[in-house]
Amino acid sequence: MGLQENDSRAVLVAEGITHRFDPKEPPIMDGIGFIVNENERIAITGPSGAGKSTLLHIMSGLKNPTQGRVMVDQYWLNRMSDEKLSQYRNQKIGFVYQSDSLLRDFNALENISLPLIIRGERAEIARRHAVHVMSGLNMQTLAQRMPNQLSGGERQRIAIARALITQPVILFADEPTGNLDAANTERVMDTLLAAQKIHPMACVIATHDQSILKYFDRVIDVCTLNGVRN
Ligand SMILES: Nc1ncnc2c1ncn2[C@@H]1O[C@H](COP(=O)(O)OP(=O)(O)OP(=O)(O)O)[C@@H](O)[C@H]1O
Ligand SMILES: [Mg+2]
Repeated sequence: MGLQENDSRAVLVAEGITHRFDPKEPPIMDGIGFIVNENERIAITGPSGAGKSTLLHIMSGLKNPTQGRVMVDQYWLNRMSDEKLSQYRNQKIGFVYQSDSLLRDFNALENISLPLIIRGERAEIARRHAVHVMSGLNMQTLAQRMPNQLSGGERQRIAIARALITQPVILFADEPTGNLDAANTERVMDTLLAAQKIHPMACVIATHDQSILKYFDRVIDVCTLNGVRN
């Protein structure tokens, strides 16, 4: 697969990622190469419009790049049918969106258990896992709350728990602290660290928030990735 020996711990390899939204315009990213190692925490920074969200969507298989390819845990995403890809994403990849992605008609516990139910797990088993994840992250008291009864920070922490429940190899989060004050930002980041302790996984986060960069092993400005080949 063209990997170097020292890439053996890679959980994600992106090669030659080029993306154009408009064929008449220059690409918004050009020839990006990127490797994420097991359990690594990476922050993707860069100015607004630089392509952080787009890169996260491409790396997590939510969007196909115009050119290039992405491998997650040994499989190239571009080789999969849509059905296989969505199954694979459910198993291997967690994604936390910037703002509310919880289903408003379900309580916190039900929201967390949903990815397992989608995977075909029995409701009772999914519920038991969700209870376990919630107590591991010390958020049992939020279990019965509906999304509109949770603060923004609490909703983000529930979204992290929901991403964790499938035990992904990599978790992406797009500005997970974007709308939060300092205290809640810290709580969300602590939840992420706790999640990684419960289940080792790599984390790749797009952020503007300078205050959270201390939590990461690597901080990468998306603009510096253009033209980097593996
Ligand atoms: N669906 C789309 N169609 C056309 N252009 C798009 C689309 N989505 C994003 N873009 C453009 O691609 C560029 C990168 O957008 P992206 O959302 O990835 O940036 P970002 O770095 O995440 O910005 P922010 O920090 O504001 O979230 C921007 O110029 C944006 O206008
Ligand atoms: Mg963005």
